[in-house]
Amino acid sequence: MITNTELEYKGNLYPNQIVQFTQDTDKLYFTTNNGVVLQITILRGSVIRFRYATNYNFEPDFSYAIDPKSTIGYSKLEVEENDTEYIISTARVSVLVDKKTLRTQISDLSGNIICEDELGFHWEENYEYGGNTVKMSKIAQAGECFYGMGDKAMHSNLKGKRVENWVTDQFAYGKDQDPLYKAIPFYIGLSKGNAYGVFFDNSFKTSFDFSHERRNVTSFWADGGEMNYYFIFGPDMAGVVSSYSSLTGTPEMPPMWALGFHQSKWSYYPENNVKEITKQFRDLRIPCDAIYLDIDYMDGFRCFTWDKNHFPDPKRMISELEEDGFKTVIMIDPGIKVDRDYWVYNEALENDYFCKRGDGPLMQGKVWPGECNFPDFTNPAVREWWAELYKEFMTELGVHAVWNDMNEPAVMEVPTKTAPLDTRHNYDGHPCTHRKAHNIYGMQMVRATFDGVKKYVYPKRPFVITRAAFAGTQRYSSTWTGDNVATWEHLWLANVQVQRMCLSGYSFVGSDIGGFAEQPDGELFARWVQLGIFHPFCRVHSSGDHGDQEPWSFGTEITDIVRKFIELRYQLLPYLYTMFYKYTKENMPMIQALVYYDQEDTQTHFRTDEFIFGEKILVCPIQEPNAQGRRMYIPKGNWYDFWTSEPVEGGKEKWVAAELDMLPIFVKAGAIIPKYPVQQYVEEKDIDELLLEVYYKKGTESSEIYEDANNGYDYKKGRYALSNYKLTGKEKSLTIQLFKDGSFETQYDTIRLNFHGLPFAIDTVMLDNEEVSLRNLSEIQDNILQIDKDFSLLHITGKE
Ligand code: NOJ
Repeated sequence: MITNTELEYKGNLYPNQIVQFTQDTDKLYFTTNNGVVLQITILRGSVIRFRYATNYNFEPDFSYAIDPKSTIGYSKLEVEENDTEYIISTARVSVLVDKKTLRTQISDLSGNIICEDELGFHWEENYEYGGNTVKMSKIAQAGECFYGMGDKAMHSNLKGKRVENWVTDQFAYGKDQDPLYKAIPFYIGLSKGNAYGVFFDNSFKTSFDFSHERRNVTSFWADGGEMNYYFIFGPDMAGVVSSYSSLTGTPEMPPMWALGFHQSKWSYYPENNVKEITKQFRDLRIPCDAIYLDIDYMDGFRCFTWDKNHFPDPKRMISELEEDGFKTVIMIDPGIKVDRDYWVYNEALENDYFCKRGDGPLMQGKVWPGECNFPDFTNPAVREWWAELYKEFMTELGVHAVWNDMNEPAVMEVPTKTAPLDTRHNYDGHPCTHRKAHNIYGMQMVRATFDGVKKYVYPKRPFVITRAAFAGTQRYSSTWTGDNVATWEHLWLANVQVQRMCLSGYSFVGSDIGGFAEQPDGELFARWVQLGIFHPFCRVHSSGDHGDQEPWSFGTEITDIVRKFIELRYQLLPYLYTMFYKYTKENMPMIQALVYYDQEDTQTHFRTDEFIFGEKILVCPIQEPNAQGRRMYIPKGNWYDFWTSEPVEGGKEKWVAAELDMLPIFVKAGAIIPKYPVQQYVEEKDIDELLLEVYYKKGTESSEIYEDANNGYDYKKGRYALSNYKLTGKEKSLTIQLFKDGSFETQYDTIRLNFHGLPFAIDTVMLDNEEVSLRNLSEIQDNILQIDKDFSLLHITGKE
């Protein structure tokens, strides 16, 4: 047993014995003899915040990550003490605080230890910058697994890894390279069937060690700021992710077109090149909703300007594209060209909106336009100004959406690739250097962008995309995994990164399909599209250096395969839209890693490839060349092969055939999957009927479908249609009960039910207790039944 006094000599300082305890409603304060104060706040029975001050001194309590709308409330809080510890009890956990060391131990109500300090809080004073390096170490349980942490390009289970959070422009990153573009200091621990989460809300550079340095220790630390973390008890991973998401927020519903297929390249220009691309999509009948303009649309890379040679009349072009069903998404970077003839530059200069260095000069760095200054987006006045800059683009020109890039911020030709650390920031009235503001800089940029876009596309919904992100950025923007490479390994990475982001509260995410750097061959491109159509954000993007990367760039066989899968995405739009609804409303990740889906099954703990799309569809990408299929794990339960409707029993590995035009996809038994007809873009067609694919199950299963006007805010006034279908299958019958909520009237009046796996031939059909006469049942061909969309009870019986 190491004592605190011994450790004081090893460079670290430790709290010693508690000399005072006080309680202020939901906040408990434990003060040690050497001036450490532990503040424990009970947010919910299962969500507890731990904050440590040294020298009795807490910082002002301010966080960019925590959603101001996040709600809290607990039912029970009791504190007892004995000779050695304080015991805090909530309705879900008990927390022991050791009187001698301030170490804590959290257990569930059955006494299972969930999370226990090893050395607990300790710190090193930082002479150079002031403040402390704050550290926490915890005991890693035998067999404990670790997940989450944002965009880390490594195995989903982080056991044995050490990672760092420092938002970084990492062009053509490799597997295990770290850090990347996002900083999400949140992990999920899973041990002995219990999951918990730790969110370290500190924007300085943070590091996490998951049994890497010492086998039985998990530790995390930050270069400055406070030891300030939220402990979240599951025991289900779903509960952990949900509580984390409610702390850091979820986005509003995006416009449905944002869930369509998007095409991008660095860069499509001039105008006739853009038009050639969009025309080709329509000519080849490949659905697509958005076209992206990368930096070359600008005049000399000056943000909020147009290159009038290449785009003489952007307003006309954008409206023509819109008539053809394309939304135009334009890029905006943070670096503002140093140019006294450039209005954006002058406005920022005059208003003192640029970041300054320690001794006062403007922070200057090179990006695309050459020397740039950088707005301090951590200043609320700067964010307001930035938001207004979008006015003309959105209202006059009709730009639909905005893509923020390089907002780490990326700076060229310097070894650190970013702003110097002495750069000063307002940090919403808590002035600091870049050491503290770096990780949230991009987040605050895209927040300002979101505010502007939202204001000026009103009454439509905004759509924004960002590269850099910190925990909480999901409230404002979708994101992608940055500059990946056209390799099979990167296809594997894209899959893991997206699953990991979804576990980290950030579901609206995708990768550059096909790879950004280098050139995929047709096979890799097709396999990547097959994965990408199951990612919440689905966009092909490439550096454009190595050749074309459009769906038709690899010959007709590949074009046909790509079309088939993009069409599938469009058919699944109501399902995908419902997934998004569940993400915003119920904090449910849109993609579920298998371990999230079934944490009880230890088979899932180290799986990386298979994932659940939404709640009911199992997907497993093909991640190597020349594959005719692959081995995969089918989670426990009953499934159907999506292509053949063959029933499949889970809980085992299986070889699944998948030639180049196929992908292993399975549907959960009992699921009801809604489909729209294939459209070339969202709202191309009136939806005159909703197709429901009904997968028989012996037992009960509920499926929800959420619909609204696909855009606008009427849904917030109750104009949505939420249909809950409860399926109950028996040997010779099938019942579907329908519960409806919301006042939105869908365009269609009828639904068409397509039954899969019915173990009987249909004999009678009762709709709301009235027998549908068999003469009217000519529709029952191939197990397809067409009925009115408004019913309460459908009862089908089988022939004896
Ligand atoms: C870097 C981004 O990651 C990439 O997507 C973009 O094409 C280039 N910047 C050029 O704007």
